[in-house]
Amino acid sequence: MTQTAENRVLIFDTTLRDGEQSPGATMSHAEKMEIAEMLDDMGVDIIEAGFPIASEGDFKAVSEIADRSKNAVICGLARANFKDIDRCWEAVRNAERPRIHTFIGTSPLHRAIPNLNQDEMADRIHDTVTHARNLCDNVQWSPMDATRTEWDYLCRVIEIAIKAGATTINIPDTVGYTAPRESADLIRRLIETVPGADEIVFATHCHNDLGMATANSLAAVEAGARQIECTINGLGERAGNTALEEVVMAMKVRNDIMPFTTGIDSRKIMNISRRVATVSGFPVQYNKAIVGKNAFAHESGIHQDGMLKNAETFEIMRPEDVGLSETNLVLGKHSGRAALRAKLNELGFELGDNQLKDVFVRFKALADRKKEVYEDDLLALMRESSLDA
Ligand code: KIV
Ligand code: ZN
Repeated sequence: MTQTAENRVLIFDTTLRDGEQSPGATMSHAEKMEIAEMLDDMGVDIIEAGFPIASEGDFKAVSEIADRSKNAVICGLARANFKDIDRCWEAVRNAERPRIHTFIGTSPLHRAIPNLNQDEMADRIHDTVTHARNLCDNVQWSPMDATRTEWDYLCRVIEIAIKAGATTINIPDTVGYTAPRESADLIRRLIETVPGADEIVFATHCHNDLGMATANSLAAVEAGARQIECTINGLGERAGNTALEEVVMAMKVRNDIMPFTTGIDSRKIMNISRRVATVSGFPVQYNKAIVGKNAFAHESGIHQDGMLKNAETFEIMRPEDVGLSETNLVLGKHSGRAALRAKLNELGFELGDNQLKDVFVRFKALADRKKEVYEDDLLALMRESSLDA
């Protein structure tokens, strides 16, 4: 099947390329350096650092990330022409482990843009992948909009790219059009059908237009893909890319049914998530899986009571596993006495049953007026309660 140890899935992070492409998410040079360092440090296998031909700034960022690289493969993006590929090589060549990623849109809609017929495009793919491979021994090729490309043509161009020297074949679901079963079938059939498929790594690159990017990526892995392309917080054009934190934690938490490993230190997830949100200017939605403010927060009395007795009642992973120090029991109108007592204990108050009863009545009245009751509110309630006693 694949080249990496059978169940090891490579994590290819494209926060600095596809992520930064989202309108309004531009990062400064210094911010890109910082994010690249954090990605390397958390164990990302391949960092797609930018699109060197796109601008002087992108070229400089990719070159500097390549110069400073420690562990990860550093990859740059290039369209299917020699000028792009040469510029990309210039930017990544000083990395310890450089990669050129070249792509062209292969679906009928995308072929119409450069106005190439199938044969002309096949020749272009042959020539550009050969050129990239003459420069670098690590070449990734992507048929953009693969999921809307005719089956026979997709097999034909992938075979050409493999013969020309591509070492990774990425299958982009560029417009987030596929669904999990189809994503799995496509990868499985490509591995079974295309000559040379067992010599290269298949990658999955999903967009989230229908909210299925994570499910589609995991389905592709189950079918034999061994590289997931993703971004921190799912940053990316339109509805974004597959979120790194989601696929990594899904394979970790449900390793019983998805027995795959990655090199990611999941305890570094929260830090980088917050940093990417700040530098990109894209806040994380409160209820976002894994990294949202509420992902480990509980307000209802039943949930808080359960959590205080045994965290596994309402949490399938430990907050520490993603780099959070603890679960957050949010006090609001749905909270019960047990959570109030626990919070007051944390603040240093040991209450008898009568005082707890009194403070609980005051707390409920306040919680009806406020969305969330904070520590300062509790301190005020305790002051009121002892003055009235
Ligand atoms: O979504 C896409 O097709 C891409 C390619 C450049 C890989 O980002
Ligand atoms: Zn993309």
